Amino acid sequence: MSAQAERYVEQNLSRFIQQLSDWLRIPSVSTDPDHKEDVRRAAEFVADDLRASGLTVELHETGGHPIVYAEWCGAEGAPTALVYGHYDVQPPDPLEEWDSPPFEPTVRDGRIYARGATDDKGQCFTHVKAVEAWLKTVGKLPVNVKFLIEGEEEIGSVHLDPFVRENIEKLRCDYVVISDTAQFDKGIPAITYALRGLVYAEVILRGPKSDLHSGVFGGAVANPANNLAAIVGDLVDSHGRVQLPGFYDDVLPLEEWERQEFAKLPFREDAFRAAVGTEALWGEPEYSVLERRWARPTCDINGLTAGYQGQGAKTIIPARASAKFSCRLVPNQDPQRVFRSIEHFVRERVWPGIRVEILNHGLAPAVLMDVHSPGMTAARRAIRRAFDREPVLIREGGSIPVVATFKQALGVDSLLLGWGQNDDNLHAPNERFSLEDFRRGILASVALWEELRQAAAEAR
Ligand code: BES
Ligand code: MN
Ligand code: MN
Repeated sequence: MSAQAERYVEQNLSRFIQQLSDWLRIPSVSTDPDHKEDVRRAAEFVADDLRASGLTVELHETGGHPIVYAEWCGAEGAPTALVYGHYDVQPPDPLEEWDSPPFEPTVRDGRIYARGATDDKGQCFTHVKAVEAWLKTVGKLPVNVKFLIEGEEEIGSVHLDPFVRENIEKLRCDYVVISDTAQFDKGIPAITYALRGLVYAEVILRGPKSDLHSGVFGGAVANPANNLAAIVGDLVDSHGRVQLPGFYDDVLPLEEWERQEFAKLPFREDAFRAAVGTEALWGEPEYSVLERRWARPTCDINGLTAGYQGQGAKTIIPARASAKFSCRLVPNQDPQRVFRSIEHFVRERVWPGIRVEILNHGLAPAVLMDVHSPGMTAARRAIRRAFDREPVLIREGGSIPVVATFKQALGVDSLLLGWGQNDDNLHAPNERFSLEDFRRGILASVALWEELRQAAAEAR
């Protein structure tokens, strides 16, 4: 029956691309209050589209940006899938590095360029269009499908988390389906079975009431910038080993099969090094580059601010210094515990006369999925049908905070079916999404609904 839906996809592909462009044109930057109304318009855009396909749609107000919920539950007795995606995007800066404006979607060499093209409007839209294809041809879906599309993923899913916990019945499902990651490489589709978690902290040190002359006062008044440098300097050693006490205690080591599978992947360290544009790769020597990125915890400074930033020299003891830094966590590490150990580590190192403030900008545990579930089987078959190739099983180093909440609150695994590429420039200038990956992603989603029903029946 999916043949009709597949034909519909091929016949309507150019309209789908037009609609995706219309969605991408809306600058739904969730972190920027000036874009609050644009964020809402982006929510309404996808809500209207889902409604036009025949789903029941609700727009839920939150203390922040709205949550779009939609469902088609006409497949009695069949499994239920919950598609999660996000319609918010990262800020487009630095604007001058874009070859075409971030909110004027442009197709060049088979790719659509715009902020949100791959992260996550373009990827999320594949499922929206696959469901349309089934409903407009066959008139029904092989499984029940629910959509949960939020507008705060890029700012830590603050309001989605309580929404999930308060709507367990509404969101009940057998699997969550998410396309917000990447394929392993060009022509090598992947299923991601683990994501790293995140602890994001900001430390602000305040010393004298204003900047001071460093000659007149230096040596007798503690300098917040020196103190901050000492603290952040203690955090990580020269091989990237995190120095927070007990940091590695709960780390779940990679299993032998995982190390073997990663080693078999066609990954060339030198090509990766060149693509990153660095002279040498770096990190824990006893782990491969893929292992370091996917399965080892890290601590990275994301921003450092203190003192004089203008041209030339200015001799001061700055009144203030601050650092934003984040740890990527691996399965079993407890984000609360890591945050508390950061607080302790910092407070222990504060010098006399300096006041410290420590902010928590978000916690998310890592996630690890069962690779042998019927859902995994279904996803593997659906991807093979659309991409003409068996997907590889990978982990990813990035984070999608709500995936752990789905596991905790709904008791379900997420099928992370990324259609993107590692060079799609997510969070960077010239973000893009290959139209061929868009097309195959829609076809894989069309196939997935059928395969999920089939795999559930086989497992019975
Ligand atoms: N889609 C990404 C996460 C991602 C990208 C996972 C590529 C794996 C591969 C998501 O939108 C994102 O940017 N997540 C943030 C989370 C943070 C803002 C809480 C991240 O990983 O930094
Ligand atoms: Mn994303
Ligand atoms: Mn993102």
